Parts: sequence; structure tokens; C-alpha cells
Amino acid sequence: MILFQDQIVEKTTVQISPDDRGYYFGDGIYEVFRVYNGELFAKEAHFERLIRTAAATKIQLPYSIEELTANLNKLLYAERIGEGIVYVQITRGIAPRAHPFPVNSVPVVYAYCIEVKRPLHSMKQGITALTLPDIRWLRCDLKTLNLLANVLAKQEALDGEADEAILHRDGWVTECSASNIMMVKAGVLHTHPANHLILHGITRAIVLKIAAELKLPIVEEAFNLEALRTADEVFITGTTVEVTPVIAIDHAKVANGLIGSITLQLQQAFELKFLR
Ligand code: PDD
Repeated sequence: MILFQDQIVEKTTVQISPDDRGYYFGDGIYEVFRVYNGELFAKEAHFERLIRTAAATKIQLPYSIEELTANLNKLLYAERIGEGIVYVQITRGIAPRAHPFPVNSVPVVYAYCIEVKRPLHSMKQGITALTLPDIRWLRCDLKTLNLLANVLAKQEALDGEADEAILHRDGWVTECSASNIMMVKAGVLHTHPANHLILHGITRAIVLKIAAELKLPIVEEAFNLEALRTADEVFITGTTVEVTPVIAIDHAKVANGLIGSITLQLQQAFELKFLR
């Protein structure tokens, strides 16, 4: 089953218009929620980001957050998902192709949920990454459908036999194709500030909160590729990846190529706080 507008229906009964602006322009927004124990995880933060993105893109949310929450819960119940994700997207609506906002078009809401297990293997073993130029626009803080640059970067990483792309602007590391990035150097946790150049990841914020509780020193400033390559630990954060270590960058090991102690500490604290 899926959520279409405010109805839970069979996916096969839904027809998406070729005139949907999401299809023509990528003119829409989205959210990905984690589901743990059959419940939406950190839902307030995700809805806040959805509201902020909707406001910045001038897309009128057609339902209240209360209605949307109730419908997403119905969907979760219908699909009996315990551990998974919920994907929600809202496009500006349906109209013949023309750049100006259409008058009187109704935003199109679509959501699905699927089972997605925690990536325990890569969380333990780590992943590899390639560094690539960040060619995205200057509103990476908005969770919009325009993900072509992210898709190209991810594929380039995979084609280069790595798992994820670490993006940089003129040598300054921003984030990854679908996750945020942090590094540890001399016991200090470094990550890009939450400005217009990165998505303000919900997991990023949670991990920073945990790090503060653990009294780890935190620096929210951009760091460069040179610093990244000589880091003691590197890891990515995201709704599906949680805290996943990066053990090699551009085919060179990060430190000794093993998961670092602070990464491990953050993983354990995350689990203790939310998954027990
Ligand atoms: N991606 N940065 C980018 C570019 C992302 O696409 C994501 C999430 C993140 C991490 O944000 P959060 O912790 O809120 O998931 C950072 C989602 C999962 C996706 O597009 O599938």
C-alpha cells in the first residue's frame, strides 16, 4: 500500500500525471524517515525540515502535519513495517509544462514504506569513499527532488569501486552524496557547519548532541581534503546509515584502516539511547 494525497491505496491503482512538475522540473520536496520498532524515528525533526523546505520552495503543504503523521502511521500499520524507512514526497502539482508556478494547482503527496534493516555489516566493517567535486546548487540545505548531481556522484563512486562519494567545493569537504560526513583529528570531532552548502542531517544533529553529552570537543567548521586524508577517523551519518565508518578514501586507508574508537563510542551511544 502507499499513501496518495490523504488516502492509503494499492500502488497499482494510482496514476501519476506526466504533467506533474516533479516529473518535468524536479519541482518537489521530500523526506526520508527511519522506522524503528514500528515507529517514525525523530519525527518532529523530520517534519520541521519538511516545513522549512516547503516554505523555502513556496510549496503549500496540502495537509497539516497532524494529518500527515496520522496517515503515515496508517501506512506503517498497513504494511506492518518494524524496521524500515518511510519516503514522503510532495510535488508542486500538475500543470502543462511552463516555468512559472501554476495557478490553483494542488501539490501531489506520495509516500511509501519499506523494510530496511540496519546496515550492521558496513557499520562494523566500514565503507570506502572517493572524493569528488560538489557540483550541486547553493541550497543544499533544502531537501528537494533535484538530486541529479548526487546521483552522478554516487554512481561515479560505485564505478570507481567505492561505496560513497565525499563531495568538496574547491577542496573544502561539504558532505556525501546521501549522507553527512564527520572526521576525528587529535580527539576533536570536525564537521561542516549546518549552512546552505549541506543538508542539515537529522542524524548529524543527533550525533553532535550525543558527542556533546560524551564531552567530545566539536568543531563545526569546513575542513579541507588534506585534513580529511590525515584524519584519525572518518565516518558518515544518515537516516539509513546511522554512524558508518569510512575506512578508505581514494583507495588509501584512513589511519590504520580500522573503525576508530570515537566512531565506535558514538555508534554504541546511539544504540543505547534509541534502540534498547
Ligand atoms: N539522505 N546529506 C544528504 C545529501 C542526504 O541526502 C542525506 C539523507 C543526509 C543525511 O540526512 P539525515 O540524517 O537527515 O538522513 C545528508 C536520504 C536518506 C536520502 O536522500 O535517501
